Amino acid sequence: MSELLWQKPGVEVDARIQAFLAGDDVVLDREFIQDDITASAAHARGLARIGILTGDECEALCRELGVLSGDLHSGAFVLDERFEDCHSAIESRLVERLGDVGRKIHTGRSRNDQVLVATRLWLKRKLREVQAVCREVAEVCLQRAEAEAIPMPGYTHLQRAVVSSTAMWWAGFAEAYIDNAVRAGQAHDWIDANPLGTAAGYGVNLPLDREGSTRELGFARMQVSPIYAQLSRGKFEIAAVDALGAAVLDLRRLAWDLSLFTTAEFGFVTLPPQYTTGSSIMPNKRNPDLVELMRATYASIAASRTELEQLLSLPTGYHRDLQFTKGALYHAFGRGLGALGLLPNLLRGMAWRTDRLAKAFDDGMYATDKAVELAVAGMPFREAYRLAAVEPLPKAGADAQASLDARVSPGGAGVLGLEALKQRLAGIAVQA
Ligand code: ARG
Repeated sequence: MSELLWQKPGVEVDARIQAFLAGDDVVLDREFIQDDITASAAHARGLARIGILTGDECEALCRELGVLSGDLHSGAFVLDERFEDCHSAIESRLVERLGDVGRKIHTGRSRNDQVLVATRLWLKRKLREVQAVCREVAEVCLQRAEAEAIPMPGYTHLQRAVVSSTAMWWAGFAEAYIDNAVRAGQAHDWIDANPLGTAAGYGVNLPLDREGSTRELGFARMQVSPIYAQLSRGKFEIAAVDALGAAVLDLRRLAWDLSLFTTAEFGFVTLPPQYTTGSSIMPNKRNPDLVELMRATYASIAASRTELEQLLSLPTGYHRDLQFTKGALYHAFGRGLGALGLLPNLLRGMAWRTDRLAKAFDDGMYATDKAVELAVAGMPFREAYRLAAVEPLPKAGADAQASLDARVSPGGAGVLGLEALKQRLAGIAVQA
């Protein structure tokens, strides 16, 4: 390992202890180092504005940070166990290239605000990605809701209940993903606060230009209190994971539907062949492994959320426990966005089997229509209910389309309300 930033003369470094302290941190930090570089350049420019660095020094630091960023992209520089974490790697590289100028970068900052600002920039980007994919899912669902209104059974308790339609199924997930896009945007805005300049969690004896770094890094506001900046580590991560979780929770139910609907027993849906896999032994099999892993993804989100929450049993101030929040984030967003990212094309490519849908109706599914019809004609509903249980067919008979057309309260199959959903989708502000 390169020399530790905080190494004290005469204290020997124990390799096993260091390995435990670092854990998988330095590897995880590959995910966050570009944001750390961005924030480091903003910090350097802020130091120049208050006269701690000369213009030339600041320029040299920013240039080297840019070179490091490029080297990371190209693979010429690899963040590995030589370093304790990405913060040490950046500083060590600046010192290696610029000597004493490199040794000035850490004036007025701590790794505690450094890790906060880097993860926050990362989280904001991930939430924008969640929002974008949710919008795309909603768009696909709306298009398909408009294009196909095939009658399909509506289930409660997995028992046939009433007539529904593919358009209603699509509209349901369209509205869900509009909500999920809104939620991602709200979480983004909620955490959009700059912690850089709060140092170790108690401020620093310099007039740091925190407003300047807030603007430069694209934050909507400054996180004012250094104590709160530390308190918000983990708390903001939970808010972001919850927003991601809302989208993945709906995905779990959608995937459940697809895994049922693709069975021979239901046979309502066929998936594009590339979304299914074969069996190693059973030549007859096409398995919906992809939708099953989509369904499983929520387990990883829930596990990450629990890990974050458990880590926060802490008094105020920075504690090394917080290092583990990065692994939780990385796994949650890695799996969550991985699954969500495949959803739009899966939805575009799936096909309904009209023949199988038509065969899945029975007369009992009209009984509710019949009871309401009798009630409209003046019979007390409870009496109509008893009668319809025995004679379920309404005047229109076992006519699924007539049943759907008559569903005229807003949101029902006769008045899906897709225009309102489209307007709401179009009105979602896209975060910069
Ligand atoms: N790897 C550490 C983390 O993620 C960086 C901050 C270290 N700060 C410290 N005071 N030891 O929290």
